Amino acid sequence: MRQSGVSRDDMFIETKVWISDYGYEATLHAFDKSAGKLGVDRLDLLLLHQPLPSRFDLTLDAYRALEKLLADGKVRAIGVSNFMPDHLQRLLAQASVVPAVNQIEVHPYFQQKTLQRLHAEHRILTQAWSPIGGITSYRGGEKRTFDDPALQVIAREHGKSTAQVMLRWHLQEGRSAIPKSTKPARIAENVDVFDFELSSDQITAIGALDTGVGGGPEPDAITLETFGRQIPEA
Ligand SMILES: NC(=O)c1ccc[n+]([C@@H]2O[C@H](COP(=O)([O-])OP(=O)(O)OC[C@H]3O[C@@H](n4cnc5c(N)ncnc54)[C@H](OP(=O)(O)O)[C@@H]3O)[C@@H](O)[C@H]2O)c1
Repeated sequence: MRQSGVSRDDMFIETKVWISDYGYEATLHAFDKSAGKLGVDRLDLLLLHQPLPSRFDLTLDAYRALEKLLADGKVRAIGVSNFMPDHLQRLLAQASVVPAVNQIEVHPYFQQKTLQRLHAEHRILTQAWSPIGGITSYRGGEKRTFDDPALQVIAREHGKSTAQVMLRWHLQEGRSAIPKSTKPARIAENVDVFDFELSSDQITAIGALDTGVGGGPEPDAITLETFGRQIPEA
């Protein structure tokens, strides 16, 4: 990014704090680690990666540290990730700042509509991870979003790829989407979604693909014992 010549102000840098760094002081220090590794003084968005349901006290302390970083101008916005409705309600009952974002798994096969409605009530932006269903193809997934027949029909109607159709669907439904690719041509493809529009029938057809089954770990199963690990210093 530094070599690209694009100015820092034209970039949006977001990262997350892992559960092993939860706690007020530990999370303040987690900011220093991330900012140090990235070589920046300020982040645009900093999230808590998960709720830690078995230690929600630590989760709240970590969030208080994010609020402090926000007040000090070290981050421009704060939020959470993988918070389910009950986690979000418990956080909102204690927080002074409503999270700007909840980054959750959303793709056509897992849409989390109830959670998204709660976000809308509190004006929390839904940010979709695995937005084109990458998680449906990892580990030799049998039913990949990329090959979905209904998405393929819509893609053909617009002369676009299924990935582009999924990304356009997110945008038209008001979500942020963070697709990842290691291939320059696909990165360019994934940005090229601003010259077509899905019809309401097409949006409805994609809405009907929801299976209600996600691919990520169950948020309540995440504990320090099972998922804790040392996050290296900068
Ligand atoms: N908060 C969380 O718990 C959490 C969990 C998982 C992920 N995430 C975040 O979400 C981001 C994206 O999620 P993700 O990587 O799981 O899934 P994704 O972006 O939905 O899909 C990525 C996969 O799709 C392939 N791909 C990318 N563009 C494509 C295209 N145009 N056509 C066909 N295949 C394409 C990529 O392969 P190639 O690289 O070979 O192109 C990769 O295998 C990650 O960078 C991560 O930051 C967050």
